[in-house]
Amino acid sequence: AGYFTYDPGFLATASCESSITYIDGGKGILQHRGYAIDALAKDADYLEVCYILLYGELPNKEQYEEFKDIITNHTMVHEKIAHFFQGFLPDAHPMAMVCAVVGALSSFYHSDLDINDPNQRIRSAHRLIAKMPTIAAMAYKYSIGQPFVYPRNDLSYAENFLHMMFSVPAEEYTVSPTLARAMDRIFTLHADHEQNASTSTVRLAGSSGANPYACIAAGVASLWGPAHGGANEACLNMLEKIGDVSRVDEFVAKAKDKNDPFRLMGFGHRVYKNFDPRATVMRETCHEVLTELGIQDPLLDVAMALEKVALEDPYFIEKKLYPNVDFYSGIILKAIGIPTNMFTVIFAMSRTVGWISHWHEMLGQPGQKIGRPRQNYVGEIDREFQPLDKR
Ligand code: CMC
Repeated sequence: AGYFTYDPGFLATASCESSITYIDGGKGILQHRGYAIDALAKDADYLEVCYILLYGELPNKEQYEEFKDIITNHTMVHEKIAHFFQGFLPDAHPMAMVCAVVGALSSFYHSDLDINDPNQRIRSAHRLIAKMPTIAAMAYKYSIGQPFVYPRNDLSYAENFLHMMFSVPAEEYTVSPTLARAMDRIFTLHADHEQNASTSTVRLAGSSGANPYACIAAGVASLWGPAHGGANEACLNMLEKIGDVSRVDEFVAKAKDKNDPFRLMGFGHRVYKNFDPRATVMRETCHEVLTELGIQDPLLDVAMALEKVALEDPYFIEKKLYPNVDFYSGIILKAIGIPTNMFTVIFAMSRTVGWISHWHEMLGQPGQKIGRPRQNYVGEIDREFQPLDKR
């Protein structure tokens, strides 16, 4: 026993040393391996970002092609995986299916259980990056009663995902380049974000020597909550609840009321006390997509009105609560036609590369220890036990 430094929510505790992602929340800076997120989002595609997160350097043309080849060659899942879905009720949340199926991958790739071999770790990273979109799209297809769609290797990562989501045997889905680009940006902007709750969960699970698929399943579970990855879904549900521009002020007042637990979903961030740099890029893409699709949706009007009010309201300014990346990504996903309950799944898919890069980095670090936080006990001690018939 003893008294340990108490840091609830780990606001001031560094749990590791990492050279993957740098954040300066006060200045609104996010960099992967030293490259600014806006440059990566604008000029690199998601697979380049996966490469840099995993390997530490940007790929040259040859390395990029080789990496793309490896990823596309791992996109299929074992046919037995399809049977896993049959055990779920069709109205199961797709995050429940993804969490279970990703964990189940550990029973298919026995060689990947050798986590001390760095080459094997990289192989499991490839499998995960490649198979997550397939599993995510299968969860969606299952939930709407449509046949699973096999991946296509002639398409880009983002195009292939949209193809597996929206193709049906009767009709091929034609992927719009603007939507594929927007999808790719959503993947890129969610790829990694240093030691957030889900990444810390993956590291903690991995610190015990658990296999990569079990660790990623833990990450998916942690991401699911509305304060983390579930915020994009919660944000859209909130917009639906607001329903009309005329009710925006009422909900803003609720968010400001100290006695009301209601929060504006999609606003605020633990680390960014300035505009989230991902939100800046996402906002641009959001307006591009809405213009391209010429969408007239009252919910989007509500979103734009909320954005305006929150950016001008002294409460939000004072508390440095800005719209975060998930405020805009939710709107884009809705415009693309992706159902709300798939939003967090898409976040999980995109973040898989970040999780697995951290897991790989951690296992490669010398002197790595099992994660084992302590506590300060505040309960009773030394009580005298009474048998049941005396209580
Ligand atoms: N609406 C209204 N008030 C808020 C909000 C909000 N969205 N977020 C924070 N506040 C207030 C909060 O009530 C508190 O007020 P006071 O100082 O008077 O008690 C103050 O701002 C600080 O809040 P906090 O909870 O101490 O801040 P935190 O850094 O622990 O929380 C957060 C960060 C993201 C959990 C929180 O802002 C939140 O719940 N936001 C809504 C959910 C959301 O959009 N989450 C997605 C984050 S981005 C995606 C990801 O990284 O997963």
